Amino acid sequence: MSSRSEEAVLIALRGIVGEPHVLTEPDMVAGYLRDWTGRWSGHGAAVVRPGSVEEVQEVVRICHGSGVAVVPQGGNTGLVGGSVPHHGEVVLSLRRLDRLEPIDTASRSVTAGAGATIGALQEHARRGGLRYGVDLASRDSATIGGTIATNAGGTHVVSNGDTRRQVMGLEVVLANGTRLSGLEGMPKISLGPDPLQLVIGSEGTLGVITAARLRLLPGEAAAPLVILLAVKTLGEGLEFLGPDVRAIEFFDRACLEAVIEHRGLPRPLPVESPFYVLIESGDIPRLPEDAVAVVDPRLWAYRESITETISALGVPVKLDVALPLDRVDDFAAAVHDLALEGDTYLYGHLAEGNFHVNVVGSRDPEAVVDRVLELVVDLGGVIASEHGVGVAKADWWRRTTEPSILDFQRHVKAALDPDRILNPAVFWGE
Ligand code: FAD
Ligand code: MLT
Ligand code: ZN
Repeated sequence: MSSRSEEAVLIALRGIVGEPHVLTEPDMVAGYLRDWTGRWSGHGAAVVRPGSVEEVQEVVRICHGSGVAVVPQGGNTGLVGGSVPHHGEVVLSLRRLDRLEPIDTASRSVTAGAGATIGALQEHARRGGLRYGVDLASRDSATIGGTIATNAGGTHVVSNGDTRRQVMGLEVVLANGTRLSGLEGMPKISLGPDPLQLVIGSEGTLGVITAARLRLLPGEAAAPLVILLAVKTLGEGLEFLGPDVRAIEFFDRACLEAVIEHRGLPRPLPVESPFYVLIESGDIPRLPEDAVAVVDPRLWAYRESITETISALGVPVKLDVALPLDRVDDFAAAVHDLALEGDTYLYGHLAEGNFHVNVVGSRDPEAVVDRVLELVVDLGGVIASEHGVGVAKADWWRRTTEPSILDFQRHVKAALDPDRILNPAVFWGE
């Protein structure tokens, strides 16, 4: 934007959302311009904080009409550089749209504003005797809109499915300001192709999510058991996959040692092992006779503290990938054989073959990305499992996606956002 047109746009935006909700002062916008990991930070024209769907429509219309790109932002906990501006875009913060409607107990669903946090929704559902199926350690900041835009996974995908499986309907503002609304919450609808579904996982590039109708699950009759087990291979952990299992997570010894040190937690098991597996289950799984295991709900702290612990050690290269279940041990061994510069940490959502490969202390982050993702592709895995593509993996996404699918996605983008004003740096990398 030239400074004259920038001033005109800012005046128009202030007229829509009110002076206090257009932020331009460096200390006020800093937290919106830098991502959670500290690896991605950009500069933005302004941060705009609309308070209603009508204001979102007007803001998007003004930006569209002025050729100003926008980056939708929720809790800014995304880990692939997609939630921050890279080329002076306006940050469209949805956090003020945090209303949670009363629960509809008959259809077991609720309408939630895009800016409500996952933690707030979980608490709301709990008070109604129900629960929300997605859980993740960023629950107190990550928003409904952000988790839908990234199709977040989290810890309970094996039992409840990913975010996509919870979405019954959406309210979305398109690039030209048009509102599409599908919040009726009808359990069954068959009215042709659903354009709103395309927005799930689109990382702010196809539309701005302003609200969602979400499925809720029955409350638990009893708290599930949480078991931590020392294992030599990840395959051993996968043997516990069974009908009562709600989650199977893993981390390696490097993660456990770092978390114990950083959080000052006691050593949970009396043995050292290459891997540890955390199982949440309705019933105690059948364990081998020589198993070293403990049962305690507080064990989640070891798994959920890993991200924060690693970030305290430095700015990590973070990779989120998935492997076929019969290749998880091959992948773990191959990553170690790469002997990457710096410290490598492996953890993830084992039941889905998900790995978070984090490397701290490498002087060449791009080389780490390339070497690890080459392994993933060689072993038949996927390069983006739950965090999305963002800017971090845009090149690899283009290289590894089937051309016919890429072509389809390009057509969808061209149809919904021909002027490329919605998060242009993500996927298509401008
Ligand atoms: P943001 O970071 O603000 O944005 C993420 C993307 O969504 C951006 O591309 C943005 O443009 C887009 N977006 C945001 N809001 C909207 C909207 N209303 N409309 C359209 N587009 C929008 N992720 C997992 O999948 N599983 C995990 O287990 C997990 N654990 C985490 C633990 C920690 C400690 C941290 C820091 C992150 C974790 N994450 C995890 C990553 C992150 O929390 C998720 O990607 C989450 O979905 C991001 O939500 P957000 O509201 O912070 O979105
Ligand atoms: C996790 O599973 O802990 C999250 O996806 C965050 C991360 O990858 O660090
Ligand atoms: Zn994860």
